Amino acid sequence: MTALTVDDLSVTFVSDAKRFAAVRGVSFSVAQGETFGLIGPSGCGKSTVLRAIAGLNTDWTGHITVNGQALEPGRKITGDLRRDIQMVFQDPYSSLHPRHRIGRILGEPLKVRGVADGEDKVRQALDQVGLVPDMVGRYPHQLSGGQRQRVAIARALLLEPKLLLLDEPTSALDVSVQAEILNLLNDLKAAHSMTFILVSHDPGVVAHMCDRAGVIQAGRIATLLDRDALSQLG
Ligand SMILES: Nc1ncnc2c1ncn2[C@@H]1O[C@H](COP(=O)(O)OP(=O)(O)OP(=O)(O)O)[C@@H](O)[C@H]1O
Ligand SMILES: [Mg+2]
Repeated sequence: MTALTVDDLSVTFVSDAKRFAAVRGVSFSVAQGETFGLIGPSGCGKSTVLRAIAGLNTDWTGHITVNGQALEPGRKITGDLRRDIQMVFQDPYSSLHPRHRIGRILGEPLKVRGVADGEDKVRQALDQVGLVPDMVGRYPHQLSGGQRQRVAIARALLLEPKLLLLDEPTSALDVSVQAEILNLLNDLKAAHSMTFILVSHDPGVVAHMCDRAGVIQAGRIATLLDRDALSQLG
């Protein structure tokens, strides 16, 4: 089954009466269970593609389907699809509320959805990402970069997404922690049969994680890399 199709996706930003085409007719599809990479230089449009798929930016043209359901430009994603698509952001520090404790950061999305045994689920998620239960009482600034990244991953996983969008999930981390988090993601993916879209500018990370990848240049997919081509990268 196809988890994600992106067909002729374009995103144009307008500021000060100037138009900038950040994404220009990007197309790719990703099978269920696959990890698809998006690579390319800074500013080429990787995060912009993910933000459109996540529904964080609805100002796009083209066609996107997730598990066969079409997203509509100009409309927020609602219902089951909202839960099925989660994103881990490039900078975990800015995506975690600075004045909320970890327990609240992880628990609140569950509460909003009326999940009954929220506290147990939070403890379980912390355990899955290798964090001790005491973390619930801490604030984001009281965690290391790697721990914050784990919290961001735990938050995304708590909603049991089918499609996880990972925007440079380890770029802020040193190499040993990076490998740990990547392996953790792979374990969780297998356990929860998820599909990943992974953005990275690190060819080694993409080679290690991805089944296929698209190389983006100036808003377009310039090349599609298969497993063989990827192994040459790493
Ligand atoms: N809200 C916005 N308004 C105007 N321009 C934007 C906006 N968001 C992104 N851009 C521009 O669109 C282009 C693509 O940005 P994007 O964040 O997708 O790049 P990226 O490939 O993720 O880069 P990086 O590797 O540095 O994270 C950049 O030139 C950026 O300046
Ligand atoms: Mg980016």
